[in-house]
Amino acid sequence: MADKVNKKKKSRKGNQFDYAEIYRQLRTNIEFSSFENEMKVINITSTTPNEGKSSVASNLAIICSDKYEKVLLIDCDLRKPVQHKRFKVTNKVGLSNMMKDKELDINLTNDLYFKRLRNDTSASHLYILTSGSKVPNPQELLSSNKFKELIQKFRKEFDYIIIDCPPVSAVSDAVPVSNVCDGTIFVCSAKETNKEDAKDSLNQLKRNGVHVIGCVLTKVEETSKHYYGYYYNKNEE
Ligand SMILES: Nc1ncnc2c1ncn2[C@@H]1O[C@H](COP(=O)(O)OP(=O)(O)OP(=O)(O)O)[C@@H](O)[C@H]1O
Ligand SMILES: [Mg+2]
Repeated sequence: MADKVNKKKKSRKGNQFDYAEIYRQLRTNIEFSSFENEMKVINITSTTPNEGKSSVASNLAIICSDKYEKVLLIDCDLRKPVQHKRFKVTNKVGLSNMMKDKELDINLTNDLYFKRLRNDTSASHLYILTSGSKVPNPQELLSSNKFKELIQKFRKEFDYIIIDCPPVSAVSDAVPVSNVCDGTIFVCSAKETNKEDAKDSLNQLKRNGVHVIGCVLTKVEETSKHYYGYYYNKNEE
């Protein structure tokens, strides 16, 4: 499974970017983004829909599972979840269902909640917690104390946690999720992102006490030598 980034990288003809290496650099940058605070729970958000958040989240989770034994990817985009499709797992039961559980059962061997994918190159595992059943009130769920409690429990069980979030400008789910994370990665698309809108979203995050640790620029023209891009493959959709 971890080899996926490398394999797909080679399948793109004439591609100038070493995507696996770019993601390793991103992982290192996150690890070194603070010497004071733990950087274990990281979420990915952006200004508007379609800028590449979910792609960054899944690729980063794969690269992290090369290094860490137990990595968890949570699909917190309860309105437009995609991670189950990318990893070809069921989304019948997931985060929303786990949140209904009185005891917050986070037994990692419980296949009902955690989809466990083995890393091909190491002994580690990537655990996927899909979004689960549709709920009418995603913001209420993600702002709840129970959600905080759940993330606290995950901290004890996993080495690294990556959270796929909705965009900042569309709905207000990104702020409460960011507030339970150690750091937030802000995605900008070279094609779509409007600079002023991105500034507004960043200010909104910062006003709400979110710790934005950096940006990832996506959808960069491959002919441009001045920017970094990252792995993307349409077959994953
Ligand atoms: N680096 C990239 N280069 C080109 N296309 C990309 C890149 N990253 C993602 N895409 C494409 O952009 C679209 C949106 O990607 P993705 O689902 O990762 O974005 P998102 O920000 O999570 O979207 P949403 O806000 O709808 O959840 C998809 O069609 C994906 O294939
Ligand atoms: Mg998404």
